[in-house]
Amino acid sequence: MNIVIVGGTGDLGFGLGYRWAKAGHQIVIGSRQKERAMEAAGRINEMTGTQNAKGLANEDAVLEGDIVVLAVPDAARAAVLELIKPLVQGKTVVDVTIPLRFNPLRYEAPEEGSNAQQTQAVLGEGVKVVAAFHTVSAAMLENPEKEVKGDALIMGSDEEAKNTLIGLADDIGLRGFDAGSLLNARTVEGLTPMIIGMNKRYKRGHIGIALTGI
Ligand SMILES: NC(=O)c1ccc[n+]([C@@H]2O[C@H](COP(=O)([O-])OP(=O)(O)OC[C@H]3O[C@@H](n4cnc5c(N)ncnc54)[C@H](OP(=O)(O)O)[C@@H]3O)[C@@H](O)[C@H]2O)c1
Repeated sequence: MNIVIVGGTGDLGFGLGYRWAKAGHQIVIGSRQKERAMEAAGRINEMTGTQNAKGLANEDAVLEGDIVVLAVPDAARAAVLELIKPLVQGKTVVDVTIPLRFNPLRYEAPEEGSNAQQTQAVLGEGVKVVAAFHTVSAAMLENPEKEVKGDALIMGSDEEAKNTLIGLADDIGLRGFDAGSLLNARTVEGLTPMIIGMNKRYKRGHIGIALTGI
């Protein structure tokens, strides 16, 4: 399965790309600069001992797969959505972004209810938006010494797309769960300020969440 990661040179995108490439998936790292994408893909290939990753400019990368992960900072999101909108119709777009605000650190949802719902509104009904991986630490994914642990709450309206992402979470050692529709994305996106605060208080970099009784 070809998985495209827009912003795959960054922490979370790189970490997901590394883990998926290690699990045998074909990864296309996207960047504003093709050279940066190629460099990140080269590092993934070196770390995994495979040739499973390649790098392209974002707009070329999104043409290469049916699953497109949007792994850019919240401030870059609007412009990136406009760039990819005509290129991702009919595809699955995985929104991992979180609208964080600072001083004090907090979650501030857009008027659509969450970033994922706004992404769906901007890209239109022709795109299957899935919200995922908000509570999964990039520091854990990127570090080959760390075992991947934790639960991934996956949300979306397209059952097939959601199940694909649950499988992709399982493939890298997480436990993927169906957490319902995008209406729940606000709840899960909103956990991040708490997790960042706990990482500071407990002097950790990779706190995640785990469900019980399931
Ligand atoms: N870090 C985590 O542990 C974590 C966990 C869960 C969710 N998230 C969410 O995942 C998203 C990515 O987080 P991150 O920590 O990986 O971010 P990041 O490393 O700061 O940025 C990711 C990539 O986005 C691209 N980018 C930066 N500014 C851009 C702009 N103005 N326009 C287009 N692309 C731009 C950059 O790639 P190029 O310069 O190569 O284009 C950068 O490498 C965020 O929304 C974050 O809230 C992060």
